[in-house]
Amino acid sequence: MSNPDLLYDDKHISFLEDIWGEGFLSPGGGDEVKRVLSGLELTGKRVLDIGCGSGAVAVLMVPELGAAEVVGIDVETPVCAAAQRRVAQANLTNHIDIRLVKPGPLDFEAESFDLVFSKDSILHIPNKEVLAKDVVRILRPGGWLAASDWLTSHDGKPSDDMRAYLVAEDLDFAMASASRYHRALQVAGLEDVVLTNRNPWYCAEAQKERDFLTGPNRQRLSSRHGADFITGQIATWDAMIKVLKSGEHCPHHIRARKPK
Ligand SMILES: C[S@@+](CC[C@H](N)C(=O)[O-])C[C@H]1O[C@@H](n2cnc3c(N)ncnc32)[C@H](O)[C@@H]1O
Repeated sequence: MSNPDLLYDDKHISFLEDIWGEGFLSPGGGDEVKRVLSGLELTGKRVLDIGCGSGAVAVLMVPELGAAEVVGIDVETPVCAAAQRRVAQANLTNHIDIRLVKPGPLDFEAESFDLVFSKDSILHIPNKEVLAKDVVRILRPGGWLAASDWLTSHDGKPSDDMRAYLVAEDLDFAMASASRYHRALQVAGLEDVVLTNRNPWYCAEAQKERDFLTGPNRQRLSSRHGADFITGQIATWDAMIKVLKSGEHCPHHIRARKPK
């Protein structure tokens, strides 16, 4: 049942998981999460996952990557409920705490996390500068921010194609450029700030996702989610692929460290 007050209701969650895998509400699954984290040691660490979605990322971080504790926060009740079910099924309630929060400041003690992680969720948070300051406050000295997010190539007026895509997506995206992120993180006091453009990777992935929606699975997806819904999603993917091909939509990996 669709709820117009929610961006990620149960229907949307199950559709996105059909495309991106159980518990994943963003592209690339566990492999892409590991690429975001590559080279970072999680063993014994306390991690915050901002916009944890339906929980597969948090679950991956504990048994596979060795994190001692993951706190996953999200603003939507259905995704938190799905994440809590996933954590319980994995028997990880002693290690993973999923919290429903209100949008706004991160309500955690100063210097209480070794790693702040986020996968394709910060695009829902309009004020990147305030978020960056908050991340610095809650990280322990020497702690890392490792994130993936959907960025734009500029902070000017979106092109007509980008506007059409944002209308089709209808998910309250507040996308910003790599230079705005870079500045926000540096001004907040993080060092070793590196942003890596993942546009070529996601251009190829998004085409595969469109093929999945339009290929032999279409009938099964239509019976599960509704034929009109799937037709609408294919149109959204077409609009997205246009702005990926132009480079205006450019997912990035974001890495930065709090000085020791
Ligand atoms: C594209 S999904 C990604 C979820 C998850 N990180 C993943 O990769 O599967 C974006 C998530 O961000 C959450 N979100 C939106 N605004 C937020 C905010 N202000 N703080 C935390 N999470 C937020 C949404 O509810 C949604 O679950």
